[in-house]
Amino acid sequence: MHEKVSPLIPEEEIQKKVKELGKRISKDYSGKDLVVIGILKGSWIFMADLIREITIPVKCDFLKVSSYVGSKSSGKVNIIADIGLSIERKDVLLIEDIVDTGITIKSIRDMLLLRKPSSLKICSLLDKPSRRVVEIHPDYIGFEIPDRFVVGYGLDYNERFRNLRYIGVIGE
Ligand code: IMP
Ligand code: MG
Repeated sequence: MHEKVSPLIPEEEIQKKVKELGKRISKDYSGKDLVVIGILKGSWIFMADLIREITIPVKCDFLKVSSYVGSKSSGKVNIIADIGLSIERKDVLLIEDIVDTGITIKSIRDMLLLRKPSSLKICSLLDKPSRRVVEIHPDYIGFEIPDRFVVGYGLDYNERFRNLRYIGVIGE
């Protein structure tokens, strides 16, 4: 059975936004020791495109965390595959696919801050601010979207649809 996906953000718009973000990040981090950390798995396609729009030296790593069940959890997620790089005294940029309730990225940020980076910012391709249950504001946002479940460009529904070149809504 194939679910229908209605386009929400076309490929061209995503690529334009990724270029803009890459330019801003390159400017903001000029002269700094930038470490970009992708949160697996949703951010990997966005991150692959984004780092190629970054014109300053950059180191990359990935972090995988367990997902919590439901949005009323304690807000704790656990690291299941840690980064290999040391981030002490480094300027760290976390890359997320989407910030929804904010529980995941806030928990990751709190854990990584214990490792004493010089700075730690968040870049999320998508932001659903209407769903937020914890106080967190990404420093770089690609697109603000309404409360809809989206797939594509790395985002999945039951592990499918990550390979779509655009972002869409299922079943509409
Ligand atoms: P949060 O902890 O509620 O902010 O959720 C963050 C994670 O939930 C994201 O990294 C995604 O993996 C997943 N997620 C939240 N909303 C969506 C969506 O609309 N489509 C696909 N995944 C989503
Ligand atoms: Mg994710």
